[in-house]
Amino acid sequence: MIDAALGSEDAATKERGVPRARALSSILQRINDPFAFRARPDLAPFVNWKENATAPIHRWLRYREAYSPHLIRALALGDRILDPFCGCGSILIGAAQEGLASTGIDVNPLAIFAARVKLTPLSKPQLLAIQSFVVEMEPRVAGAAPWPVPALGIASKVFEPDILTTLLQIRALYEHDFASDPGARDFMHLAWVAILETVGSYFKEGNGIKYRNRKRVKSGYILRPEGRWQDERFGPDQRRFTIDAFLAHVKMMLHDARFWKSGCWKDQAAIKGSVLDMDRLLLGRTFDSIVFSPPYANRFDYFESMKVELWFGGFVDSYHATNQLRKTSLRSHLAADLARPYAAIEPLEKLIDLMDRDASSWRMGVPSLLRGYFDDMRTTLKHCRNVLTSGRCHIVVGNSAFAGIIIPTDALLAKIGLECGFSRAEILVTRHLTVAPQQRNQLSSLEDHMRESVVVLS
Ligand SMILES: C[S@@+](CC[C@H](N)C(=O)[O-])C[C@H]1O[C@@H](n2cnc3c(N)ncnc32)[C@H](O)[C@@H]1O
Repeated sequence: MIDAALGSEDAATKERGVPRARALSSILQRINDPFAFRARPDLAPFVNWKENATAPIHRWLRYREAYSPHLIRALALGDRILDPFCGCGSILIGAAQEGLASTGIDVNPLAIFAARVKLTPLSKPQLLAIQSFVVEMEPRVAGAAPWPVPALGIASKVFEPDILTTLLQIRALYEHDFASDPGARDFMHLAWVAILETVGSYFKEGNGIKYRNRKRVKSGYILRPEGRWQDERFGPDQRRFTIDAFLAHVKMMLHDARFWKSGCWKDQAAIKGSVLDMDRLLLGRTFDSIVFSPPYANRFDYFESMKVELWFGGFVDSYHATNQLRKTSLRSHLAADLARPYAAIEPLEKLIDLMDRDASSWRMGVPSLLRGYFDDMRTTLKHCRNVLTSGRCHIVVGNSAFAGIIIPTDALLAKIGLECGFSRAEILVTRHLTVAPQQRNQLSSLEDHMRESVVVLS
């Protein structure tokens, strides 16, 4: 789930690298020293999206930042769980299936929409109406007047023309047929949003989207022959490809709907908003377990990689609205509100002092990102402490590397947690991460500090 964000180094900086590595090693040691580290490779499969990709209900929307509901059992969570960065609702759905109660918060309207659809069982008549729609849809598509194209500048670039028209015709049909049944309409809409990347001329990669007409080779990207890549990807009939993708997705969701028959779906709440407003959003609710995976301090801007789904799904309708979302999100990326004040954390300042000033990440403002990130996490942990009546708070997080230094996010969060009123902190190391090739020379002796962990505060 994480990649180290990197800067480059010139020869002079490399010469300075040895004393820096020594200084870095001793600061990292001092940050780690107060904490017990325990290897827990058994948790590694649960801290990423992989398991959810094939799990009923979870698989309705690919949310590559997600983790697994198996964490509920693996971490022995209680029966009133809070996930303040709940994303597409992995823990909430897991809690429903286990008969527990949970509350989630997320700033991303698409994530909250997906979580709510998954958590809202439809009635038998609603499922039957959707089944009939599926059976009757295909011959109706060509005659439907397309739904309006969103005002996203790249709207015509991210879909082939026939695919775009077909998508918008399908949307017009279900918006019309289910206009008086919001539950069924949202079910269809989730299926529609979920297939956009499958039928699109783009795919999510790294910190954004890439176009399918480009192929990555060693020296960069080359253009794939026009006409050929479309045939390879979509086959000869793009309208057919789009209809098939949509119908297959709705059928899969209908098939999974039987999992709604057991479990406790009413006791789960997915709230749209920022974790920084947690006290206002939770209205006095308290919990006996908290688990979350915040965005990592790695510069990834989820609103950039999900922009097609956000615009086409109608979750944003202007660039201003998109930027507002970015500003409300955690300061883990460069488009967040980095101008907001922060309270300095002493060991973080020491790490920032060691950063390579020639690195692009330094010039782009990564120090402000890091200061804002840990300040936001301090606010989050204070709120968590206040709403936790008993039990533990678990943070799934990965460390990162920038401009010749490593940020030990897990140990820094453990330290901040203790400052926020928790009395014990332990770090469960699930796996080790690699640093990108440009940084390997400088950080070769320190790669052990690149970890993905679960910080446990009690
Ligand atoms: C690593 S993902 C968590 C995914 C989640 N565990 C799941 O299984 O879907 C981090 C989440 O934090 C959310 N986020 C970012 N800033 C936030 C904020 N200020 N308040 C609440 N959520 C935020 C993102 O939208 C994203 O869904």
